[in-house]
Amino acid sequence: MDFEDIRKQFPQLKNKVDEKESVYLDSAATALKPSSVLKTLETYYLYECANIHRGIHYLSELNTSKFENVRKLSHKFLNSRYIEEIIFTKGTTDSINLLAYSWGEININKGDEILITQMEHHANIVPWQLLCENKGAHLKVAPINDKGEIILEEFSKLISAKTKLCAFTYVSNTLGTINPIREMSSIAHSNGSLVFVDAAQAAPHLPIDVINIDCDFLALSGHKIYGPTGIGILYGKKELLEKMRPYQSGGSMIDQVSFDKTTFNCVPHIFEAGTPHIAGVLGMGTAIEFLQALDFDSVIKYEEEILQYAHHELEKIKGLTIIGTAKNKCAVISFTMDSAHPHDIATIANKEGIALRTGHHCTQPLMKRFNVPATARASFSIYNTKNDVDRLVQTLNKINELFG
Ligand code: ALA
Repeated sequence: MDFEDIRKQFPQLKNKVDEKESVYLDSAATALKPSSVLKTLETYYLYECANIHRGIHYLSELNTSKFENVRKLSHKFLNSRYIEEIIFTKGTTDSINLLAYSWGEININKGDEILITQMEHHANIVPWQLLCENKGAHLKVAPINDKGEIILEEFSKLISAKTKLCAFTYVSNTLGTINPIREMSSIAHSNGSLVFVDAAQAAPHLPIDVINIDCDFLALSGHKIYGPTGIGILYGKKELLEKMRPYQSGGSMIDQVSFDKTTFNCVPHIFEAGTPHIAGVLGMGTAIEFLQALDFDSVIKYEEEILQYAHHELEKIKGLTIIGTAKNKCAVISFTMDSAHPHDIATIANKEGIALRTGHHCTQPLMKRFNVPATARASFSIYNTKNDVDRLVQTLNKINELFG
């Protein structure tokens, strides 16, 4: 695969910052968008704008068909059993809130337990915490080791007959750890628990196959897979979705409405109230096509090479500590430096044209686990090069000279 050619598909990479070529190392926050995705958005808004599922005029029918085709595409992309198992949401956070409300309100009772891990994003903590508080249930947290890997024996020990759901991330957005989700899923199921997988950080880097993972629910965000912001997917097993209560109510999700009683549309439409993010869905469809056209084995190999090179080079920098050294990891390096606070690192990197993220990365409990207030994070994607890593390393050395 020609990665130089792939780079050319991302117009934003041509931008300069103070005459310096920009280096984008913040794809975990949001990935850049290829021209094909931008073209889809432009076509919809410039030439083909219409609402869907409600008009019989040409553009309405055209967009309804394009919209439902993205559902078909997503079903193939995730290898779900049925097309109806794909619900369009605003993103991973929205998917988890939908699940916590629509599934949780019915299935979680006093004394039940939900098991998460220490490396979860706030989006996979807080909705479950609120649900547990509301129901008198308990949120259990499986610990991780000093490398940032889940301790499977502890995870197993924390599951009991009371555990109704195990909710864990496929890849940590802060550490880059790839979790052994098939094993975790199998442990959970053999104890009678359901499984939710947060695949937001995994989806741009690893193939996602819901049958192979054997999860009951899974979520991802369009913007991390080179698509638009404000759009995502919740996958759920059909038989489970059919037993869930509606999340938001209004247009589209109904069958018949009278002032006495409302009956509801079928799955997945029951979970998609109101005019959806049509352009977002179409743009995400193009992003999925973009991903499907890539040879994923080559992508994994290429990104692994960049990550290993970055690890190797960053480890040489005086006073730099990498947070998250799991054996299986992808696309992310979080670090601290003795000489500078993460925010100073990012401020100086920014002056050099390098985009990093700093802070707690929406994983405050994880910061506590590693006893750091914040980290600087470089995250990689298919359009990054070893030259980007070199630029980062030069800047970090400069920071040591300035502050050291
Ligand atoms: N979850 C995103 C990140 O890791 C926003 O930066």
